Formats: sequence, structure tokens, C-alpha cells
Amino acid sequence: MAITTEGELMDKIVTLCKRRGFVFQSSEIYGGFNGFWDYGPYGTAMKRAIEQLWWSEMVEKRDDVVGLDSTVICHPKVWKASGHIDRFGDIMCDCKHCKARHRVDQMPDPKVCPNCGSTDLTPPREFNLMMKTYVGPVFDDEHVAYLRAETCQPIFVDFHLIRVATRMQLPFGIAQIGKSFRNEITPRMFTFRSREFTQMEMEYFCPDKGSMEIWEHWRDTRYKYYREKLQFREDEIQFHPHDKLAHYAKAAVDIEFKFPFGWGELEGIHHRGTWDMSRHQEYSSQNLEYFDPATGEKYLPTVVETSVGLDRTFLAVLSHAYDEQKAPTKKEGMEEDVRIVLHIPPRIAPVQVAVMPLSKKLNDKALALRKDLWDSFRTEADVTGNIGKRYRRQDEIGTPFCVTYDFDSESDNAVTVRDRDTMQQERIKIEDVAAYIAKKIEF
Ligand code: GAP
Repeated sequence: MAITTEGELMDKIVTLCKRRGFVFQSSEIYGGFNGFWDYGPYGTAMKRAIEQLWWSEMVEKRDDVVGLDSTVICHPKVWKASGHIDRFGDIMCDCKHCKARHRVDQMPDPKVCPNCGSTDLTPPREFNLMMKTYVGPVFDDEHVAYLRAETCQPIFVDFHLIRVATRMQLPFGIAQIGKSFRNEITPRMFTFRSREFTQMEMEYFCPDKGSMEIWEHWRDTRYKYYREKLQFREDEIQFHPHDKLAHYAKAAVDIEFKFPFGWGELEGIHHRGTWDMSRHQEYSSQNLEYFDPATGEKYLPTVVETSVGLDRTFLAVLSHAYDEQKAPTKKEGMEEDVRIVLHIPPRIAPVQVAVMPLSKKLNDKALALRKDLWDSFRTEADVTGNIGKRYRRQDEIGTPFCVTYDFDSESDNAVTVRDRDTMQQERIKIEDVAAYIAKKIEF
């Protein structure tokens, strides 16, 4: 069913996220903190599930990628070498009249506010996006450190330690999931552009020869992941080649998602050449070359990167999943009302199975069944309200299966399993429920 306008869809997602405990503003009782978001119980469950899905596809189910969990704060020289301290920012100016802030390079006329037409602008100023802190008791320039702005830099820095420890040979990748911090000037669109966010990055180290084919391979692999694993429709994602390549890059493409506010970058697939390794070699004065046992050559590895934001993936999943449908109701005087349903892929749904005793008298049996299921699935016991209301509650958080334990269950040893998307119900033997659901979730 068409939801109304796209702007309204975004508002509905934000409202649902708060009401049902997916995502809300950080420090809300203090008026919120712009650019920072907390994930509530259902949000946490889904975020962890997405993270686990990515990790499983990118690391666990491959023999050429290994993992890393590095610190958020590392030696400040890392960010000098990466170029973030000198170049990671924008030249901005403020309109004194309407208070809007603009990136100067994006203003059609840098002397006129594109928002209100005023010429009363502040002089252009440089904003660096790195978040600064101090390490040690003294708050002076010597003790300045930075929160990482991307998770990939520690991967480059630790490349040699990891290669030696694992005895991996090129080509191979190192993956990391973790928090990144950027002092974004205009955080916006809910969690799309935040100041604290989670990245899932994989750096694939390879010889330069054949690296373009490797870049193409990752571009296609990642696209397939969105279509098959997150079940995004063909009209919801697209490639967007970079108009302007970073000076060191040989190729770069974004995978974009059609958010309610328009197309937005979800993931970047970057061919970074030897830029990162050569910069860290220069700044650390360590030889970071790889000795290729097959050819006897020594060279700096070329890097192909896949880099995606977890928070943006989360928002894309909700945008894809949100639906309002007409559904039959038993409410007095009404034949139909609207059910809100999230068609979240079962693998990453916050609750995969809700177990519902039809009456309080059946609570113990139903809860015993839930315990049988919780080793294999994310489960919840939903024990209050009439069954119709409970179904609606579960639809709204995207629970793909509701299992109802009723009075007949006592004699037929079976339960009713209701499918979120079709609303069809099937009677399944209790001993077969786990296998039945597992089969439907697996992909
Ligand atoms: N290592 C490369 C890199 O960090 P990026 O394009 O700056 O590249 C990669 O970021 C991904 O991280 C983006 O595609 C996006 O999904 C996510 N991301 C970047 N900035 C973000 C922000 N402020 N809030 C949420 N996600 C962000």
C-alpha cells in the first residue's frame, strides 16, 4: 500500500522508532544532543543482527578475510599520515541573516546565501571533522589525540602484525566493525548523518596487477549481498560512480539506497591503490612492503576497500520494511483498519519468534516452549491483550512468526504459527516448530 508522501514516511519511521524502542535521541531528558542517537532494545537486537550478518558473510564464510578489533583512539601520527588532520574538513560560511551554514564549494554564488539571498555572510572558515580529545592529565597541544574518523586506518597500521600472525598471503582482507566519529557540521536525516556511528569496513590487500578485477569482484559481491541477504528490491539500490576521484584512487563507486528523502550513499567500494600503505610507511619509517614468495618480489600492497555504515544500513532496512496495509478488524463498527507492518528479513528481525499463550492459564507451557526456542532464535513472550492486538504489536516490530499456544495444544501437541507477511496460520506439531521456523529463516 502506498504510504502517503515520502516526507511523511520518514516521520512515521522516526515516530515508530521512538515509540517501539528502536532508536531515539541521545540524552533526550536534557533536550537531546544533535547528531547522537541511542538504540533501544529492539534497535539493539536488529543492529547486532545486521552486524552479525555482515561479519558472517565478510569474514566467517570466507577463507581470505580475517578480523580486527582496534582501539578508537590511536597514535595521533596515524591521522597525520592518513591526511585527516590536514585535509579532513570543509570550508564553510554562515549567513548572519538566516543563520544557515553552507559549504562554500557548493554555493552557486559564494557571496550570496542560497537559503535567503542575503549577502551578509561570515568570511569562509575551515572546519575539521576530526573529534579531538586529550590523553593524559594535561590538556595541552602535546597531549592531543583524536577519535578515529574511519575504522580502516588501524587496519593499514596493523597489516604487518596480522599478516605475520596469521601467515596469510596476498590477496587477503582484514575486516573491522566499530565506532567512528566525525564532527559533522550538519548532522541530518535521523541517523543517516550522525556524529558517532558504526562502520563495517574491509580492506583487501593485493598486488597491483589484477587489482581492478578484484575491485569489480567486490563491487558485484556487495551489490548481491544487498539484493539477496537484505532483500532490497532492484529499484531501491543503484550504483553511483564517483564524479571526482580522490587523488590517490583508481576507481570508486557508491552503492546508493533510495531513502524516503531520496537516494543516499550506503556503501563505498574504493580502489585506494598503495596510497595508505605508502603514507604509513613514510610516517612510521617502517618497511611495510610485502615479500611475495611466488615471484620473489617486494612491493607495497594495493588496497581495495568496501566501507558501509551500520546505522545507514539499519535505516535502509527500516525504509524498505515499513508498510501500512488494510487489514480485517473485529473493532466495533469497522470491517477494516490499518496495520503497520515491518517486512524485515527474518534473519535480522529484532524478534524472530513471539510465543503467545492464549490464556494466562497456559503461560507455563508457552514459556517452556519459548525456552526450547531461544537457543536457536531471538524470541519474546507476549502474554497480554487479546490475540489480535498482540499480532498487531508484533507486526509493528517486524516479528516474522507468532506461535500461539492454545487449549487444543494440550491435547494435540501442536501450536498455531502465524506468518507476518501473509497473515496465514498453520498448525504445527510442537516438536517440529523449531525446524519449521529455521527453514523459513535460512537464506
Ligand atoms: N574508509 C572510507 C570511508 O570512511 P566514507 O564514504 O567517508 O568512506 C563510508 O564512509 C561509509 O560510512 C558511508 O558510505 C556511510 O555509510 C558511513 N558514514 C560516513 N559518514 C557517516 C555519518 N556521518 N553518519 C553515518 N554514517 C556515515
